Amino acid sequence: MKTLFRGGTVVTGHGTRRADVLLDGETVAAVGRDLPAEGARVVDCAGKLLLPGFIDAHTHFDLDVCNTTTADDFASGSRAALRGGTTTVVDFACPNKGETLHQGLRLWHEKADGKCACDYGFHMTIDDWNPTIASEIDDMYDEGITSFKMYMTYPAMMIGDEAIYHALRKLREKGGISGFHCENSGVIDALVSERKAAGDNGVWCHPRVRPDYLEAEAVGRLMRIAQAADVPVIVVHTTNAQALAEIRAARRRGQKVYVETCPQYLCLDDSVYDKEDWLESAKYVCSPPIRKKADQDALWRALRTGEVQTISTDHCSFTTQQKLAGRDDFTAIPGGIPGVETRGELIYTYGVAAGRMTLPGMVRALSENPAKLYGMFPCKGVIAPGADADIVVYDPEAHHVLHAADMVSRCDYSPYEGVTTKGSIAQVWLRGTLAVDHGQLRPTVGKYIRRGKCAL
Ligand code: URP
Ligand code: ZN
Ligand code: ZN
Repeated sequence: MKTLFRGGTVVTGHGTRRADVLLDGETVAAVGRDLPAEGARVVDCAGKLLLPGFIDAHTHFDLDVCNTTTADDFASGSRAALRGGTTTVVDFACPNKGETLHQGLRLWHEKADGKCACDYGFHMTIDDWNPTIASEIDDMYDEGITSFKMYMTYPAMMIGDEAIYHALRKLREKGGISGFHCENSGVIDALVSERKAAGDNGVWCHPRVRPDYLEAEAVGRLMRIAQAADVPVIVVHTTNAQALAEIRAARRRGQKVYVETCPQYLCLDDSVYDKEDWLESAKYVCSPPIRKKADQDALWRALRTGEVQTISTDHCSFTTQQKLAGRDDFTAIPGGIPGVETRGELIYTYGVAAGRMTLPGMVRALSENPAKLYGMFPCKGVIAPGADADIVVYDPEAHHVLHAADMVSRCDYSPYEGVTTKGSIAQVWLRGTLAVDHGQLRPTVGKYIRRGKCAL
């Protein structure tokens, strides 16, 4: 089946141009002016932007954490992703403590296969370094897992500096890459104890026990471990100016560092933790916490200069009912917020339409760079001959108001409730199949993506 997108503006990471796009089955066959329509269904794209399907390289679907499970599993999470223009997610496979990477991978395939409506891959969490895990890394690459994640905080998943060093040396051999959750665990624990001893239990304690400088400390330490291991690393969900300064210093030493941030750190500020209504603030509990307006500005600037390469969501959704588990203990509020359904329109609204980012910059951050960083380019991340026909048709003239009640995520709230978007996603195509038409989802079957090595 051939499909011709006629008269739109095609956006790549390098620029924009008026062009038609011809699909042949699941792939892009041609991009150019006045392409022939014979035998093709025609999609009128006059006035529309054609963007490569977004990649969300940071989701947590069907994750057991804090004695509960995320509201979104692969079925609802992937449908929410598609609705937000995301055609590929890379979720964090997470072995149970003490289990092998193979067990973790099997578990994540059980959760995702046959349920995921968009294309998907997995990063693998490394929460320990021992001979078994060391011997499994090669197999992970054979399974198309070419990126990993390590946590410098969270008792259930955290890994020490020595283990990080050994893991990085192994990944170096493979030309592999790992993302890191950077926060200083020990001092956070001490600050939590102090707050509790003082009988202070408001949601406002959350940002105060996890301040920006304790994130920056862990980023700085990671930079030095990576320097010793002589390997590039990724800092995920980067939130603040001091963390960026540590990354800048490492780059000045000649180190290669990739940086991800998320919409919540670009569009929201820490006043969300000071709301009168406990639940209204608890909705925003995530780690690292949402920071100050000055940090937002620093992140937007860093996106413009190329210091930050990707914007993912860290979609980790819990309902308000689940958040209530922390009513009497702020550390028991399940950490994480939803975002996979709103990222594209938020970044267009707060970034492109607000003059903070160019359209090619948005495509680099949401599509091209994650495709390159996580070994999926040029199959994903670009509208070009031979690429998968993952396309977002964006109408820059439309708008709508974000309401959780209209969303397909199983989370019952949105951190962006009431925001009026600039522009709107008109259609989403997944490998040549219309997946979303003006908000209406159609049945699609996602494919597991065996990823290659980092090429950014
Ligand atoms: O609070 C958050 N971000 N939860 C998700 C897990 C993580 O740290 O990425
Ligand atoms: Zn994290
Ligand atoms: Zn995360």
